[in-house]
This record gives sequence, structure tokens and C-alpha cells, in this order.
Amino acid sequence: MGKFAQRFVSHGVAMRIVHGLKAIKVEHENGQPLRIAGIQKTSVEFFGEEAVVRQASQRVVSCLVAGLQLCGIEFSAVSAGKAHDDQDEEGRQSGWGEIGTSIVPVVLLTHARCFGIVADELTAQAIDSLAGCPDARLREVLTSLIRNLHHFAVETSLTEAEWLAGIHFLTDMGRITSPHRQEFILLSDTLGLSMLVDLINHGAGGGATESTVLGPFYVPDSPWRANGDAITDDLGDNPLLVSGHVRDTIGRAIPDAVVDVWQNATNRLYAVQDEHQSPDNLRGRFHTDSDGAFAFRTVRPVDYPIPDDGPVGHMLAVTGRHAWRPAHVHLIVAANGHGKVTTHIFDSTSRYLDSDVVFGVKPSLVRTFVEHDPAVEPPPPGIAGRWCSVDIEIVLQPNAGESRD
Ligand SMILES: [Fe+2]
Repeated sequence: MGKFAQRFVSHGVAMRIVHGLKAIKVEHENGQPLRIAGIQKTSVEFFGEEAVVRQASQRVVSCLVAGLQLCGIEFSAVSAGKAHDDQDEEGRQSGWGEIGTSIVPVVLLTHARCFGIVADELTAQAIDSLAGCPDARLREVLTSLIRNLHHFAVETSLTEAEWLAGIHFLTDMGRITSPHRQEFILLSDTLGLSMLVDLINHGAGGGATESTVLGPFYVPDSPWRANGDAITDDLGDNPLLVSGHVRDTIGRAIPDAVVDVWQNATNRLYAVQDEHQSPDNLRGRFHTDSDGAFAFRTVRPVDYPIPDDGPVGHMLAVTGRHAWRPAHVHLIVAANGHGKVTTHIFDSTSRYLDSDVVFGVKPSLVRTFVEHDPAVEPPPPGIAGRWCSVDIEIVLQPNAGESRD
């Protein structure tokens, strides 16, 4: 089917498909029949009961329509065509379609056997191979994966070259992935899958803080720090005071919650990406005090591109997408008896809020980073010169079974 659709494109003409009971033809827009060079009438045949042929041809038309629509070709269906019926030596019904000089109909019906019936049987066989899987959930997930992968291949008329390109793409992703580089999370993020999984699993509701992607730069076991500490040795020219409270959904303070934070430096890089930064630069863990409060000093985060020198960057480039994320601070907040939230706080001045390459922005997570003139508003201890601040309230859902650890 893929070659067939491509053949249409190579002819460079607008076409419509006419589907009759036993015949499908392709015409130019002006109604003249289209002759496809290189297809021999002897190769056109189909087998089976009329009802089966009709069902199969309808199925293949659906596949073809999807392929042609991808090529920008319109589809219309009317009843037409002249069918030739024969019986082969075994008495099976066979035939071919003919309209003018076009022999396309029978080719399509042959494809009906190949792509419709056989593909369905293959999909069923692959799913049936999981029958002995003792893990019911694993069987359920793999069954859906097989079904949808097969549907993807049929819908796109995946060519062997495209399949192999996909294999090479995944192989390259594996090669570039290391303890410091997670290309698979990048792919998941940039395809929107990470946010979809987040949506499925963390529909906040009830006034709780919304979650967003973890991202590829989280490193567990950040150093413990005291409230008010800096998470970097160099506050630079854009110092930021982050302060906030952790509360439950009815407004009660949550003391002793753990607030795990990390962000990028003014050179756009996270410590895990940058050998010139201390491994603990711009990350840390805090305990909320008896009022549920926490605070730390840092630098104002900046917009940054995700790593785009690997397969995912190549995908972004060839699809005309940019690689940028809006400036943000990452947080994971956990407390005994409450649901943990993995989230960001985004800087409202970022130009990428509407086009985050990983689709991670939720309006409720955007905050105003307030700029202060030190002559008017003296900076807090440990900060000098112009500074800015942002206040964050994190709201956690009660969850009796959840431990902060
Ligand atoms: Fe980030």
C-alpha cells in the first residue's frame, strides 16, 4: 500500500478514488482514468466470497484513504466499475476490475488480502503469543502496545526503509544515553508522552498543586540544606529568593515536609550537564518548619534548550521545532500522609511559555518573579544588589497511604 500511495505522488497529479462493489479505480480530477505504468493485468486478482471481498476491499480503502490523506489527496467514494469474474482451478472465485485502461481496482483488491486480512491475522497471532504471560497487567499493556504498533504501521503504510530508520533512531538513542544523559526521557517529553502519563496519573483536583514532567536532569539525594540557605556558591547578577509554604487542601500548614529543588545555572546548564559546576550546584533538599514554610536563595533560572545534539535534537530539527523550555525551578514536595507532587514553577516573563518543547507548562504553575530595587527594598541576608523574589504555595492532597520517602 505504501508503494502504491507513493506511486500516486510520483505521478504528481490530483486523484480521487472510486470504489465499487468489486472494483476500485483511480481517476484524475478531470474524470479521465489513470493508467499506472508497470502494473500488469496478469497480476491483478482476488479470491473469496463476495462478502469477504467486499469487506476486505472496504478495509483496504480505509487504509488507502489514510495514506492518501497524508499525501494531501482527497478521497470520494461512489459506485462504479466493471468487474471480471473467473474461477481458478480450485474453483475459487477470482477476478479483476477494469475501468478504461486502469487496472488499479484489482491491485487494490489484492492488497486487501495482503494488508487487510493477513495483517489482522498477524496482529492476532502476536497478541495470542502473550497468552501464557502470568502477569495480567504486563499482558494487558503489551497487548495494547502490539495492537497499536501494528495499527500505526498499517495506518502509515510503513515502508521497510522507514522501519529501519526507526530502528537506527532508537539504537542511536541508546548509544548516547549515559548516567548523565537520558535521551529516552527527552523523546518521551518531546512527543508529549510524559505529560500524557502525568495527566493520566496526577489529575490534581481539589485545589492541590498540579504536577508536570520530572525532566531528564533530576539527580536524587540532593544535599540537605537549612531554610534560607543558598543552593549555590555564586548568586551572580540575578539573585533570587524563593520562599513558600506547604499546605493541605483545606489550608493547614504541613510541617516537616520535604522540598527537593533543582534548576539550571545562568549558562543554561544543569550541574549534571556541566563539568565546570559542582555536582551539588543549584539543587538541595529542605524541611518545612512548624508553619509549613521553606525558603532558599538561588539565581534566577533562564530559558534553555534541551540537549539537541542527539537523535531527539535531529527529530526536532527535521520537523521544524525549536528545542527551548521556559525558565523554571523544579520541585518535588512530599509529606507523610499526603500525595507527593513533582512540579515546576515557571517564570511568567519567559517567551517560551506557549511553546515549551516538552508541553510541560500549566497556567497554574506560572508565577511572577518580582524584581526589587535594593535602594527601596533592602535585600535579605546573603543577597546584595538588585534582586528578585517569588513566593510559592504548594498544596498537597491527603493520602493516608503515602510516605514522603
Ligand atoms: Fe528543567
